[in-house]
Amino acid sequence: MTERNKFYITTPIYYVNDKPHIGHAYTTIAADVLARLHRQLGEDTWFLTGTDEHGSKIAQAAEKAGKTPQEFSDEVSAKFSFAWDQLGIAPDDFIRTTEKRHEEAVGIFLEKLKESGKLYEGEYQGLYCVGHEAFIKEADLVDGVCPEHKTKPVQLKEKNWFFKLSDYQNGLLSKIEDDEFKIEPQVRKNEVISFIKQGLEDIAISRPNVKWGIPLPWDKNQTIYVWVDALFNYCSAIGYGKDEGNFNRYWPADIQVMAKDIIKFHCIIWPALLSAAGLPLPKKVFAHGFFTVGGQKISKTIGNVIDPNDWVEKYGADAVRYFLLREVPFGQDGDVSEEKLKGRYNADLANGLGNLFSRVTNMIEQYLQGDVDDFIRSPKDLTSAQEAFFNLDFAGGLAQIWAEIAWANQLIDKAKPWELQKTDPAKVKELLVNLAALLYDIAAKLAPVLPETANKIRSHLEAGKIVKAEPLFRKFE
Ligand code: ME8
Ligand code: MG
Repeated sequence: MTERNKFYITTPIYYVNDKPHIGHAYTTIAADVLARLHRQLGEDTWFLTGTDEHGSKIAQAAEKAGKTPQEFSDEVSAKFSFAWDQLGIAPDDFIRTTEKRHEEAVGIFLEKLKESGKLYEGEYQGLYCVGHEAFIKEADLVDGVCPEHKTKPVQLKEKNWFFKLSDYQNGLLSKIEDDEFKIEPQVRKNEVISFIKQGLEDIAISRPNVKWGIPLPWDKNQTIYVWVDALFNYCSAIGYGKDEGNFNRYWPADIQVMAKDIIKFHCIIWPALLSAAGLPLPKKVFAHGFFTVGGQKISKTIGNVIDPNDWVEKYGADAVRYFLLREVPFGQDGDVSEEKLKGRYNADLANGLGNLFSRVTNMIEQYLQGDVDDFIRSPKDLTSAQEAFFNLDFAGGLAQIWAEIAWANQLIDKAKPWELQKTDPAKVKELLVNLAALLYDIAAKLAPVLPETANKIRSHLEAGKIVKAEPLFRKFE
């Protein structure tokens, strides 16, 4: 017996300063699709997501809401799990950084770094951007404010524990260049490489004046820097320091998915911390682009934030999953809107797939009395559409499947079974049996992206007697 391949996939853990929007949904849907694909192939799959709950940013948001940070985190974290559930996203685990299992594992990890001489005490003097939860350079400011958050950074002069990030510069660079640690797409890899080449400075890994965080095990007056705390979730969730068997079963991660905003943390600090602890690096980081709405960055100030629940309520989970992955090639920036969603919904889902399914099932009922029990149901080998999904080319894979759908609809238009039935019923039978098989195959390929729809199609076709199906997608005016 051969051992099953394992597949460990993660998303970022999202800040609980605010409820989820479609940008967060995008990453999490993509990871869910990959997890479903790998499960479909029988791999030992583990899909992790969760929430990032410590640090000044969360403490400030909680204070503004008049809640304790824990109450506030509980509420917002629940909104993330709720949204994922509505979207048909099925993670194997959802980690929160305020959970004991995480806090303990982070403590063990830092003790280990300290014991092996990778940390030292020092003093930091400079600027800190709370929005980024990161130290920021004077040179990065525009008109004295952080260009992304439009806020003035805080001036800090404090004692911290530092991590010798600079020691990892050359080792990391060669691992990235050799693809031992893959960064995709290529533009992101280049960006990380040129950043490393500018030289890495050591980083503070603890903060003396941040109360809402995990205390440093050997110095309770400091809390662990929130990014170090957060990054470690990928290890704590699978049992680091507690369940070595499970940890070794899944670590290193096969792929870590995120947007391009947080690659420096994931492609520099994170692998350096892992190397310092003697742990293997993730195999791959994939950083997709940003969604804009009406051409602008999604932002509360601009008021263009889209709540995925609103779209799911109106169009259904599968339509939102399909739209987000189809509309913008994974890796590029792109604009999304309800207008565009509606357009794709009507054209691709209602008219394309939905129409094909109703026509075929209708004709099977009419011309074959619902009987196609000899159609071929054997799943084919991995097709090129699935191959595209594997390589995170979701839009490309979906386009291939939709080309097949369009081809099948045209085949029906040309063959005109409603006329052919009068002269050559055997030919009509052959056509419909083949179309049933094609639909079955399409459903299997679509299952990771449109799980609910794929189930409907398959269970309908598996019935002893096939009748005209209810529309899969009702058109919107
Ligand atoms: O950075 N377009 O959390 P975060 C596409 N807690 N994706 C988007 C997006 C957009 N406009 N906006 C957000 C953090 N995202 C840290 C992570 S991990 C150890 C800690 C998605 O809530 C995308 O995945 O700011 C991006 O990387 C992530 O949300 C940032 O989420
Ligand atoms: Mg952010």
